[in-house]
Amino acid sequence: MSKENTRIINELHIYEKKVLKALEKSRQSITPEDIVQSQNLDIKSVMSAAGSLASKGLVKVQKDMEEILSLSPDGEAFARDGLPERKLLEILYLQKNIPMKDIGQETGLNPKDVIIGVGWLVRKKWAKIDQGMVKITILGEESHKTPQIDEKLLHMILEQGEISSINLEEELQNGLKLLKSRKGLINFDKITNHTISITKKGQELLDEGIIIQEEATQLTHHHLKTRKWKNLTYRGYDVQAEYPEFHPGKMHPLRRIMDEIRNIFLNMGFTESRGPILESAFWNFDCLFQPQDHAAREMQDTFYIKNPSTSWLPGEELVDKVKKVHEDGAQTGSEGWCYNWDKDVARQSVLRTHTTCVSARFLKENPPPLKMFSIGRVFRRETITYKHLPEFNQVEGIVAADEVNFRNLLGILKEFYKKLGFEVRFRPAYFPYTYLSTECEIYLEEKESWIELGGAGMFRPEVLEPLGVTTPVAAFGLGIERLAMIELGIKDIRMLYKSDIGWLRKLPLKKGINLD
Ligand code: DAH
Repeated sequence: MSKENTRIINELHIYEKKVLKALEKSRQSITPEDIVQSQNLDIKSVMSAAGSLASKGLVKVQKDMEEILSLSPDGEAFARDGLPERKLLEILYLQKNIPMKDIGQETGLNPKDVIIGVGWLVRKKWAKIDQGMVKITILGEESHKTPQIDEKLLHMILEQGEISSINLEEELQNGLKLLKSRKGLINFDKITNHTISITKKGQELLDEGIIIQEEATQLTHHHLKTRKWKNLTYRGYDVQAEYPEFHPGKMHPLRRIMDEIRNIFLNMGFTESRGPILESAFWNFDCLFQPQDHAAREMQDTFYIKNPSTSWLPGEELVDKVKKVHEDGAQTGSEGWCYNWDKDVARQSVLRTHTTCVSARFLKENPPPLKMFSIGRVFRRETITYKHLPEFNQVEGIVAADEVNFRNLLGILKEFYKKLGFEVRFRPAYFPYTYLSTECEIYLEEKESWIELGGAGMFRPEVLEPLGVTTPVAAFGLGIERLAMIELGIKDIRMLYKSDIGWLRKLPLKKGINLD
């Protein structure tokens, strides 16, 4: 016996074996009811065993629909007494023509049957209506005694109680069509018949010989204790058996990627910080040496808040220092932006446009050396497109210590992206708060182009001096959704916020691990 066949036989349930045995005896297709009889099983067990045998390719289960015809009470009355047009014809045959209005009286039929009867008289061409008279036709003359096929069928059903539509002769099929078109005479019950037949593969197994013996489905304490387990037969596990789809809960992919990013920075020795989403323009722009007429502050880019329209400023000392740096550069060696700095502009409430303000706040409170990162949502007045959202997440970080330089910054970013599985390149860039400044880009094979993921640079003295920081500070701020798009292989950024359950279910739990 082939190894494969032995395995299949071993994994058969006893009911499956019994169904196969039943087929062995009959050698042709049989009904589940036959098997119920011959194997002494209930119909449910037979059907489920047959289904499972069919999924293994050992039997074929064929389904045939059958219509069972029976008479409704109306149908029964017509079958006994005759169809209304038949009754009309009998009288019409004697009188030849009757005025339309007298038909009810002449025939004793109720008004509903008169309408039906006249309709069918005309339809069957037994009579015609001419100037208010119902007149018999030649066809009517000939038909007045011979029952038609619809009437024959009606009688057949009356006699037999019910009839299957499958075995009707062609002529009676036409009768059925006619009866079907008069609603409410006949009841149709649809039933499905199954027939089961053996396949070549199933026959092969039967030829090898299938032995039916009781199997232990569960090993019990008693079996072990009495050593009975030694003599029991066990059915093999079918590891390829069909199983229901299973969708356990899992983290949303964007949240998972944010957690991955968090872990990378924690493992690189960074401290996590956070800051408010509703920010003052002071922390979002002014202390980052962004002039008050800077384009990014315009309404088109920044969401200004109506309520509360202003936010607290930090202590006088810092505010004055920032003012001075903007106006003439203070002690930084810079000329500043050479304009009159306005406290009220700095007080405006905004939804933070980047997480760089979290870094500024942290530097104010914590003396270097330090490594800090933050992950959070930022807001910009962008038109929504496949790659733009008005809300998205950034990961921001700073490294402050005496020896830190621009090269270290590039090294940190390279390392970070490498851990996520990307290779980066750097391009010169400009930000008001950094010098040197750079933008990180990664290469997209499919698009054959580089896409921008974020900015970085060394904070300028105009940022650091008012905050009282005397060491160099390397800083970076990177978009998260674009990274997620690339990692998840999606073409539209909106997918990340769509909660498309089908897509979410199919996504692997982790990059590179697809459990499908
Ligand atoms: N804040 C910038 C943005 O949102 C990104 C950025 C650039 C952050 C340079 C930094 C930096 O910390 O040093 O596009």
